Parts: sequence; C-alpha cells; structure tokens
Amino acid sequence: MGEAFDYQAVVESVAAAPTRTALQELRNQWVGKKGWITEQMKGLSRLSPEERRERGALLNQWREAVLEALTNREEALLDAEERATLAAEGLDLTLPGRRPQAGLLHPMTRVRRRVEDVLLRLGFSLAYGPQVETEWYNFEALNMPADHPARDMQDSFFVDVPGLVLRTQTSPVQIRSMERHQGRLPVKIMAPGVTYRRDDDATHVPMFQQVEGLVVDTAISLADLTGTLTVMVHELLGSQVGTRFRPSYFPFTEPSVEMDVTCAVCEGSGCRVCKGTGWVEILGSGIVHPVVLKNGGYDPDEVSGFAFGMGIERVAMRLFGLDDLRLLYQNDLRYLERFQSGGGRGIS
Ligand code: DAH
Repeated sequence: MGEAFDYQAVVESVAAAPTRTALQELRNQWVGKKGWITEQMKGLSRLSPEERRERGALLNQWREAVLEALTNREEALLDAEERATLAAEGLDLTLPGRRPQAGLLHPMTRVRRRVEDVLLRLGFSLAYGPQVETEWYNFEALNMPADHPARDMQDSFFVDVPGLVLRTQTSPVQIRSMERHQGRLPVKIMAPGVTYRRDDDATHVPMFQQVEGLVVDTAISLADLTGTLTVMVHELLGSQVGTRFRPSYFPFTEPSVEMDVTCAVCEGSGCRVCKGTGWVEILGSGIVHPVVLKNGGYDPDEVSGFAFGMGIERVAMRLFGLDDLRLLYQNDLRYLERFQSGGGRGIS
C-alpha cells in the first residue's frame, strides 16, 4: 500500500495517449470506478487517522493531476479531430460569413406610407379603386365629357374593351367613395394608388403613383383646403418649406388651385430646376365641383368639399434628391439600396 506511485509517468502517458479510446482506457485504469487511485482511496478507511490524512492528501493530489491531464488531452484530441474533419471537408474558417439578405421596402413604398401616415393623423381613412377603370368614373363623372378638351391633358392608355381605360388619375376614387358613403357625412378619404399615362421622360413615367384626397361635409371652404394641405406638406417635407396656392383649372373643381413649394435646389432664389421662379408645383386641388358632388350622390346645395391629387414620385424626388425619376422603376437593387436609411438623402 505504501508503494511509490510514479504519477509523473502516468501524467506523461496520458498526455501521449494517441486516441480517445486509449485515453478512456487510461481513465479506467487510474481514476475509473475500479481504477488504481480509486481503489486506494477506498482502502483509506483501514488506516489510522494520521496515516489516512497523509495518504488521503497524497491520493487526492495524484487524482487531481491525472484528471487534469485527462481533460487536457481530451480537448487536444477533440480539437485535432475537428480540424482533421474540417480539412477533409475543405472548410476555410477564416472566410468571412455571408450576410443574409434582408428584404427592403421600395423607396416609393416608403414615401407612400409616409404620406398615408400624415393623412391618417389628419383624420383621413384609406380608400381604393380599380386600376382598370370605366370611362365614366375616370372622366365623365368627374365632369369631363367625351369631347372635353381637358381629356387631352391626360394621354390615356385605352384597353381593348370599349369603355375601359387604365385610370389616368386617382380622382375616380372620389366618386366611388361618395357612392360607398351613401350620403353619410363626413366623407374624408385618401386614395393612394397607381395611375397610367402615355408620358415618359426624366420627370414622367408611364406608370406613376398619386394620392388623392377628398373631404365632403357641411360648409367646407377654401380655408379648410389651404389649412389642411399646408399642414400636410409641412409634415411631409419639413416646416421650413415655403408654400403658396395659385389659381388653376381642373374640370372637377371650382375654384381650382395648385399648390407650390419652395424649390429644394435653390430654396427659393430661382434656378434651372424651378425655371427661375423659386417654386415647384406639388399638387392640384380645389373646391369640389357641384356636378361631381351630384354624381357621387350628394346635394351641392347642402354640402361642399375640397379635393386634391398629388403625384408622389415628385415627393420622392424631393425627399431623396433625385433628378431622374425613371431610375426608381428600373429595379436595379444597387440603385434602390442607396435610398435606405443612411444612404442618399434617406428618410426614416
Ligand atoms: N387628378 C388631377 C391630375 O391627375 C389632380 C387633381 C387636381 C386631383 C385637382 C384633385 C383635384 O382631386 O382637386 O392631374
């Protein structure tokens, strides 16, 4: 029992164990249930207290040393195994990882949602209409009969079915919304959506997006129009932006006004973009024409309203500082990604 135990030699043999199987055998042999050190410890009870203390301390020391050597060797063997596997698989752990590609919202989607958010806060609810529209809703009901010269302002895409047209504006949703309200007041809707015209240059694309607004109630005046639209534009573009209203003409409003904002490029002093005026147009609007109210099922002697229509690509051009609108719709991700937060003149 008192024989010399060369634990150094045991530790060395553990450190040199060639495989994990060999290591397991050594573990069994020395510190396993029936291992030599374990057996020695079981025998301690037969010793006198003094011998037990001395021998016990020694055995513990050996046990610790052997266990530590076993752990170290096991880790080293596992490590080597893993590296061998990786080498066999040809994996290079130093290669940078591949970032998963998160989807992004199209810049126009973000602009549209921003306009919707502003108008929702102003109490407008969302309304929608079809993109393939009847000539009645797109033109006639809006006080634009077939021979009306104002139809020339909107070069239309007609479809093969007579009487149908790709809507040239979101204004038909005005009539559809009034019909849906069936005479109830107030009508206070916004109609975002895609519209189509035969236009194609740096500031026009054949498919574009508008947001229409319509308010019908008792005693709606031009003051409601200018107040609401000024707040909307300031929320959208910032309160530092100057605004003005100009008389204009639309068949479906009387009087009609266009709203201008100070040019983003020269901030009002006059440049090429604003043709020296310092102002750029942002939307058309006006007091709803009595014929339009009637076509929507409302009595123009009882109620009044205002309406507006805004092309939101123009808003995007301003928010993002774009000079060619067509790029927005060519779906080149390298271009579109520039408009995410942090890129270009991003919006939140
Ligand atoms: N629909 C017109 C257009 O596309 C814009 C417009 C002007 C809408 C005046 C309106 C409005 O609701 O009142 O050019």
